[in-house]
Amino acid sequence: MIKKVKGYTKNGKVADYIPALSKADPNDVGIAIFDGNKTCFSEGEHHKLFTLQSISKVLTLALALMDHGEDVVFSKVGMEPTGDPFNSIAKLESHIPSKPLNPMINAGALAVSSLIKGSSNEEKLERLIQFVRELSGNSLITYNQEVAKSEFETADLNRSLSYFMKQHGVISGDIDVLLDFYTKQCAIEVNCEDLAKIGYSLAQQGEHPQKSYSIIPFEIARLVKTFMVTCGMYNASGEFAIRVGIPAKSGVSGGIVGAVPGGIGIGIYGPALDEKGNSIAGMKLLELLSAKHHLSIF
Ligand code: DON
Repeated sequence: MIKKVKGYTKNGKVADYIPALSKADPNDVGIAIFDGNKTCFSEGEHHKLFTLQSISKVLTLALALMDHGEDVVFSKVGMEPTGDPFNSIAKLESHIPSKPLNPMINAGALAVSSLIKGSSNEEKLERLIQFVRELSGNSLITYNQEVAKSEFETADLNRSLSYFMKQHGVISGDIDVLLDFYTKQCAIEVNCEDLAKIGYSLAQQGEHPQKSYSIIPFEIARLVKTFMVTCGMYNASGEFAIRVGIPAKSGVSGGIVGAVPGGIGIGIYGPALDEKGNSIAGMKLLELLSAKHHLSIF
């Protein structure tokens, strides 16, 4: 399968607005698929580590919903796709009340991150990382300090989104403290297999990949997967639903997690991105996989 999409990488570009991400090899493509059996099926650069970036938005949303419930979370963030790029500020100003339209765009994720319970950023991050370790079954997962620092030092657009929301009462507190947590959350590091197992847990409505207990309540797993369908690929979500039809979430490091109902998790890595910030070969790979194995939920 990888061979069929490798050529697409040359039409994409590695993200460089977070300087540390520009070190990735644009030719890399890796995939892991996990169906609950002992081992993953994997191909290509599936062993390489990469940061979650926006994929973390799915996980902080689940944790914030577990911490506070729907009423509190959705008083700070909406449920509608934007049709805008992931870091756009436009709709914050044009919509009243000026809460972000959904938790998958940067503004929405910043608002959600501000809700994670913990007495310090260390405690919040520890809780989130522990959650990711449980979902993936990998107790070694941690965050990449270089990537977090590189984003923190260059995150002026995210700072401006945050200050705008603070002025409008969506978030409160010190913005750099929030940015410190957010950039570390985005820098949590996984490989394709970890991501496939996270996808599997979501596909299984929040169940542990190896054991049979719930890490995420059923209703919250359903809710976050719905956001993955409507907003997971930003302003490419409509086309992705038609061409692929799998609840999925991308990140600018080139990762994509997919959760196929019935219990298949997919983890993809391909750092060459298309113009909307999604892995160019990864999107194609999912399209081929979905067509071949009839994975579309529609
Ligand atoms: O906030 C940012 O810009 C990044 N940490 C995450 C953005 C991202 O992954 C968008 N995804 N395609």
